[in-house]
Amino acid sequence: MNDSPLPTPDSPTPRHIAIIMDGNGRWAKARHRPRSIGHRAGARAVNICIDACLEKGVQALTLFAFSSENWRRPAEEVGALMQLFLRALDREVDELHRRGVRIRFIGERSAFSPDIQTRMARAETLTAGNRQLTLCIAANYGGRWDIVQAARAAAHEVLAGRLAPDDIDEARLGSFFSLHDLPEPDLFIRTGGDLRISNFLLWQLAYCELYFTEVLWPDFDRAALHLALKDFARRERRFGMISEQLAQESPA
Ligand code: IPE
Ligand code: IPE
Ligand code: MG
Repeated sequence: MNDSPLPTPDSPTPRHIAIIMDGNGRWAKARHRPRSIGHRAGARAVNICIDACLEKGVQALTLFAFSSENWRRPAEEVGALMQLFLRALDREVDELHRRGVRIRFIGERSAFSPDIQTRMARAETLTAGNRQLTLCIAANYGGRWDIVQAARAAAHEVLAGRLAPDDIDEARLGSFFSLHDLPEPDLFIRTGGDLRISNFLLWQLAYCELYFTEVLWPDFDRAALHLALKDFARRERRFGMISEQLAQESPA
């Protein structure tokens, strides 16, 4: 399953992939193990995706690691996730830096422990100059939070006299959102079989291609990613137009 080739370089490859990494708990449950074991197993799939993105020249990969609603889980699970997060920050960052990955975090980070916040800042600073791939980790992230923080930032600009309310258009408001300086996500993947967005990137997914798979996140391997990329390559993205117009725009 794991060494099948990815699509050829001339096939349309997404510039930005955004993933809801779901199904860790069910993966562990099926093995009669605690949910935390599923989260640990999910780390392997993260590395597979990063490798494939580097190999394919994907510019950005955004991973939903912890939602603003995930604090509602049992304290024991939240604690295990925080431990894992801390460990990943200690173990993985230097290697990612060596491979030219720029690391970023999106979400409200003040809710994390000082330990975690310090490591997040270090990872971002250390890797700021890297250009191979931008890896965005959505941690304590919510799409509605993003809308609120963008609206608040715009309101501050208005109050400071730097922005007129009538000048707020999609481009200007969009510039306050997380990920605004990256290409918009082209491909959204959700593993685990649930057909919902769960408060992930609400603004940014406006014209993203959505792909859902039953595969549980710890089982998501190169072959599973290959299928998603193949499916993406077949899609016709019309952005409101009709097929004939697209043919005119880019004659084969
Ligand atoms: C996703 O897997 C990981 C996080 C939300 C942190 P889940 O833990 O939601 O796994 P399921 O959906 O219960 O199987
Ligand atoms: C979404 O998964 C959040 C992450 C993968 C981090 P959830 O498992 O929390 O989503 P819901 O609650 O089932 O919609
Ligand atoms: Mg879940």
